[in-house]
Amino acid sequence: RSGQESMPLHGIRGLQSKVRELQESPGGLGFGRYFTDHMLLMDYEEGTGWGEPRIVPYGPLLLDPASKVFHYGQTVFEGMKAFKWKDGRARLFRPLDHVRRLNRSCARMCVPAVDEARVLGALRRLVTADADWIPEAPGTSLYIRPFVVATETQLGVAPSRSYAFVAICSPVGAYYAEGVRPVPIYVETEHVRAVAGGVGDAKTAGNYAAGLKAQEAAARMGCAQVLWLDGVEREYVEEVGSMNAFFRFGDEIVTPPLGGSILAGVTRDSVIRLLRGWGVSVSERPVSIGEVAAGLRDGKLREAFGTGTAAVVSPIGSLHWRGERLTVGDGEPGELSKRLYETLSGIQRGELPDAYGWMEVV
Ligand code: COI
Repeated sequence: RSGQESMPLHGIRGLQSKVRELQESPGGLGFGRYFTDHMLLMDYEEGTGWGEPRIVPYGPLLLDPASKVFHYGQTVFEGMKAFKWKDGRARLFRPLDHVRRLNRSCARMCVPAVDEARVLGALRRLVTADADWIPEAPGTSLYIRPFVVATETQLGVAPSRSYAFVAICSPVGAYYAEGVRPVPIYVETEHVRAVAGGVGDAKTAGNYAAGLKAQEAAARMGCAQVLWLDGVEREYVEEVGSMNAFFRFGDEIVTPPLGGSILAGVTRDSVIRLLRGWGVSVSERPVSIGEVAAGLRDGKLREAFGTGTAAVVSPIGSLHWRGERLTVGDGEPGELSKRLYETLSGIQRGELPDAYGWMEVV
């Protein structure tokens, strides 16, 4: 589970202190490599509905190979974060918004909705049980990954009649190996991620599996991520593999509208609210790759960044499009990207006032 080491790290005494040591070095914890002592389980059966959530030791799931999730991909997930403040208490960032989005993904994928209050209460108990695992160094947090899988053992293509809800936790640092350095992004012109009417606005595993081919191409070009274009004209910017995309043209910030094919990011919404609160003009409008490339060539596009729970606010350093590498600004993090990252992290870490009421005590 460490993702890097062959030794099974989980369950070894002293791993928590290892995590404490790792959080001190940039890139030490990485993203999603280590997992805590416990997980949350909750079962659903048609007729009786969702059962009681249980906190159990972290460990493998025993699933029948005929479970529908393995064959037809009926599954949804979320990503949310907990932070430990200087007063020693843990806080969750916008947890209700994450659980509501989980339920929107469930609705799209024919998964029965979970009870928001019950799941939030259970997530709080999970974070409390593993509170010692929450790293405290700047740039770190406890990433919580709730997910639901279809468990009915029957090979007909139809919504499952049973499900397992699971939540696991991972102490994390920056999502990208670059840390807070601007990331190079590859513009995919052949494959598409999603189309309006499909499942692009649901957080479901298939969207990410569908993106792997392009991610391989991106890696060959030395890029960290893929920028997706729309599925019809292959012209309008959609989102980056793990983030929503923002561009600064002069003093206007532009981000693609939520048209059904892109994910409604909780961080996207937070960033829009912060910017508008600062009096910065934000347009949720279609933006073509041609407009982006022209802006990079004539200097009107002053900065670009991605937002996401895992990625927080990550500056985009360059775009690799049709064999050309276009640098964003001077290749350094832009002024607004830095201000947004520092403000959001400051709120999350309890170092800046939480004017929007985003942080919830665990
Ligand atoms: C998140 O930001 O929480 C996500 O789910 C993106 C994932 C690809 C790491």
